[in-house]
Amino acid sequence: MSLYRQLGGGEAIQVALDLFYGKVMADPRVSGFFDGMDMERIKLKQMAFLTMAFGGPDAYDGRTLRAAHRRPLEQGLDEKRFEIYMDLFRETLDELGVPDELAGQVMDVACGHRGDVLALAGGDGTPDRADSETPRRSRDLPAG
Ligand code: HEM
Repeated sequence: MSLYRQLGGGEAIQVALDLFYGKVMADPRVSGFFDGMDMERIKLKQMAFLTMAFGGPDAYDGRTLRAAHRRPLEQGLDEKRFEIYMDLFRETLDELGVPDELAGQVMDVACGHRGDVLALAGGDGTPDRADSETPRRSRDLPAG
């Protein structure tokens, strides 16, 4: 069964994202990146992205993660901030009572996009992947 269904589908993911972005906006270590942003729009994009990434219906029509995070990167988004953001996500899953093993799998999928969010180059000297290579559809994502 897909992670999407194990989590309880769209409604459950929406509840999780509401709680998560509440935490993000309440945490001065990461809230500044979202100053003045339309959080409802970001939540909707994130909802569609994670739905696809967790193996649910594919309706993501947003930008590539590289393109979407260019501005936050210029504003100081780095590994440390990424860890904080992900810790808040894990905290959210724990608070909602998502079982440990499922939460671990969910975190693996979300953290798997670290390279694109942080625009990291391949560690072997290959150039940055082009934006167009960010997986856009669930069938293009690595299995498992
Ligand atoms: C510290 C970590 C992160 C920060 C501070 C951050 C911040 C942001 C900001 C400020 C935007 C809005 C950009 C804009 O509209 O100009 C954004 C958009 C977005 N982010 Fe993140 N992000 C982080 C991690 C992630 C991760 C890990 C994912 C995916 C798993 C993700 C998925 C998205 C998506 C799907 C959008 C919407 C794309 C669009 O507007 O088309 N972000 N993020």
